[in-house]
Parts: sequence; structure tokens; C-alpha cells
Amino acid sequence: MNITDQPGAILGAIVEDFDHTTASDADVDRLKQAVYTKKIAVLKDQDLSPRQFLALGERLGRPETYYEPMYRHPEVPEVFVSSNVPENGRQIGVPKTGKFWHADYQFMPDPFGITLIHPQVVPEKNRGTYFIDMGRAWEQLPAELRKEVEDTRCRHSVRKYFKIRPHDVYRPISEIIEEIEAKTPAILRPTTFTHPLTGETVLYVSEGFTVGIESADGEPLDDELLRRLFEATGQLDQTFGHENIHLQGFEKGDLLVWDNRSLIHRARHTTTPEPTVSHRVTVHDTHKLHGGSHTS
Ligand SMILES: [Fe+2]
Repeated sequence: MNITDQPGAILGAIVEDFDHTTASDADVDRLKQAVYTKKIAVLKDQDLSPRQFLALGERLGRPETYYEPMYRHPEVPEVFVSSNVPENGRQIGVPKTGKFWHADYQFMPDPFGITLIHPQVVPEKNRGTYFIDMGRAWEQLPAELRKEVEDTRCRHSVRKYFKIRPHDVYRPISEIIEEIEAKTPAILRPTTFTHPLTGETVLYVSEGFTVGIESADGEPLDDELLRRLFEATGQLDQTFGHENIHLQGFEKGDLLVWDNRSLIHRARHTTTPEPTVSHRVTVHDTHKLHGGSHTS
């Protein structure tokens, strides 16, 4: 296994000659260190079936199966499918996922530390995923803004981007909203936390899932403060030219592994409906999102 820095980018590592069936535990540890420190590892020359992809994920941690069944691969439920290509006339997974800034499972009580994506059908144009490193973004935030959010907490919810399911057709919208709030109530978290594997401070807010901010004693604060955080970190830049934004390209055979604590990401907007299919596996590592471990 060979790990090198991704050339010409603010983050990322290229990993060659990684085979999850023969890699030693030390190799897997090195790979995870690259993920935590370089934020994205691009594993080259992987061509894995859904079952093999899950086996690779299991080397890195404990898989989390997506809570909404419509996203699951029909044979391997731990694999989440994003696809706009029907198979034998049948929709597999969900099309157009994640076209908004978010961290995966940010709205859930126990978000996982690592996300893996294995693109299956790669579009010709508009390829890639946008990322912002929210550890780096925190460091670059103006001192006054950092001071303003000290000791605050944020609320995260899926409510803005919950996708209507086939069986929701003809249901009243109020009933669907009630179901979302009952099943996935908003989660309150500190606005920043210490990354348990790197020690850096992460600003844990995203335009897609962060829906409110409040003081340490639970007093709601003006949404304008959140808007300024989104703006300063680059999340409101519709040109995607902000210096915090990294466009991660990929080609067939690549497998992306990233730090889901530090990074927020967003699917690239396509103007043409090009065929796109990708498989995702998500895993819990040794630690919770922040403050504590899974094993103790
Ligand atoms: Fe995502």
C-alpha cells in the first residue's frame, strides 16, 4: 500500500495497492490515519461488488444501515444507493441525493465517523463532489464570529431535505411532517467540538441540516448568526469558487473514504440528467462523533 498527498489540492491522499482482503491491521490503521489527517483518501483501482464493498467498510469500522429503507441496496442493505439509472425498469435506491451542504447523519443521535463512496456509473460532465473542511474553516473564521458562537449549541434536523417516498403520495403534508418530527426529532449539539482523533476544533454546522442556534442556557439566538456562519465558511457561495471549497474528482475504479466529522459535502449540480450511480457505506470507528468512545 502506497499513500501520497493528492497533488494540487488543499486536502486529500491517494492510496494505491490497497486490497482489503490482504491488508494487515497496521495497513488499515495507516489508511484511517490518512483519512483523519488528510480528510479524504482516494483508493485507486477498486472494483468491488456491493458485498465486497461492505467487507472493505467492515475493516474500518461498524457499518450503519441507512434508516430509510428506500435507499438500501436490495441484496446488501448496508449499502446505500444513489442512482438515476433504473435496473430492469425498476428504481434502485434514490436519485439526486445530497445536493445541499451536509455531514452524513448530522441530524441523528449517533453520527458515524467515516463515509465511503464507490462510484459505479460516473458522469461524463459535472463529475465530483464538493467538500468543505470545517476544522480549517473554523480556524479561518473571523475572531469576533468565533467569540459570538462560544458556548452556543445548534439544532440539526432532516426536515428541509427529507425525501418524499413512493408510499407518501396522496398523504397530507402535515402528516408526513409529523412523522419526520416524531421519528427524527431535532438533535442539539455544541456548535463546535473537539475531533476525538485529531484534537482539532470542528465547526459542526451545515446549511442543509442545521436549523437553529441557541445560547448555553437554551435561549434561541437570531437565525442571522447561523446565516453568517454559513456565509463565512463558503456554504452560500453558488459559484463554488470560495477558497474553502474543494471539488473532489473521481474516475471509475476510485473509492473515496472521508472524515465525516470534519467535512461537510454537497453533490455537484448537473444541468443535464446524466446517468449517475454510486454506492455508499458508512461506519462507526472507535469513537463517537465527539466526547467518548464506542468501545468503553
Ligand atoms: Fe452525504
